[in-house]
Amino acid sequence: MLKAALLYLSKARWARRIVTRWSFARRAARRFVAGDTLDEGIAAVRALNDSGLNVTLDHLGENVTDQADARRAAEDYLVLIDRICDTGVRANVSLKLTQLGLNLGPDTCLDNLRRVVAKARECDGFVRIDIEDSPTIDRTFETYRALRKEGSDNVGVALQSYLFRSQDDARDLTAAGARIRLVKGAYSEPPHLAFARKRDVDANFDSLAALMIDAAVAAGGEPVSRDGRIPPRTALATHDPARIEAARAHAERARLPKTALEFQMLYGIRRDLQDSLAAEGYPVRVYVPFGTEWYPYYVRRLAERPANVWFFVSNFFRR
Ligand code: FDA
Repeated sequence: MLKAALLYLSKARWARRIVTRWSFARRAARRFVAGDTLDEGIAAVRALNDSGLNVTLDHLGENVTDQADARRAAEDYLVLIDRICDTGVRANVSLKLTQLGLNLGPDTCLDNLRRVVAKARECDGFVRIDIEDSPTIDRTFETYRALRKEGSDNVGVALQSYLFRSQDDARDLTAAGARIRLVKGAYSEPPHLAFARKRDVDANFDSLAALMIDAAVAAGGEPVSRDGRIPPRTALATHDPARIEAARAHAERARLPKTALEFQMLYGIRRDLQDSLAAEGYPVRVYVPFGTEWYPYYVRRLAERPANVWFFVSNFFRR
């Protein structure tokens, strides 16, 4: 109930207008967002790199409604990638296709993405396409496939274990050699498309992780690149210790080298787990968002964990 209400609020423009005016809300969001500026994003990357963690940087933004904003978002990514290359930090980028104009027509988005992926290729970088809500998924995979068909292989996608369709998508994508990030899923989906019960989402996560691990073994177990930018084929993005344990056990049985199994977590969540996995020799990548468009991202993080909401509410009364 609370989760559904928050996921509604994450998309409501009226709520965004109110909440982003509150300075305490911006401060609260800083737990999950590195800052407003690229400099703050890079500072967070350096600190994580110094502790042996790789990063994916997200310049926050989604659901743009005009062509100029979509083009500007792509240009911001070009600047971000230049900065990654110039500073030599161990990072790649993540982006949302609705930020590059997916809802404004397939050509707009593909043109913008093509520029970003080409820029990343100049310094052996990598672009991860985040996965959004179900109405965008077919178009997201079509855009991804179009780029692969053009010869770009420094681009990857994500899959959500709460969706019934993901088993089929995982089979198609692994057969095509895709680099996949597996997540549980962060949006509100109808019951005819997605598992409603957490235990079903978790079981599907374990099953999809096993499928991806087996495919990575069959393909030779390629490791993360030495500069930490190109992820291995299998990236599991979760803070759930039981999911991580199940995947590790399966990977050991299948003899996938540790360096070919990447774990990913969000900035500000389970730093202890990030460090312990890295100490064991797994590549760990932290998803670091920055920018002024923090509202929907932050409210999705509140929806994932009621305790975060109480923190927010107590700050509201304390301000
Ligand atoms: P689960 O929700 O079961 O949480 C397990 C434990 O993790 C909790 O008990 C708690 O300790 C901790 N935890 C989880 N969320 C927390 C929070 N918000 N605050 C504090 N603690 C928290 N989704 C999507 O739809 N498309 C995408 O592209 C991505 N991309 C992405 C990248 C990366 C690197 C990660 C880690 C996650 C995503 N997600 C995503 C979000 C994902 O779908 C999911 O909503 C969250 O990861 C929470 O689910 P968990 O797997 O952590 O499990």
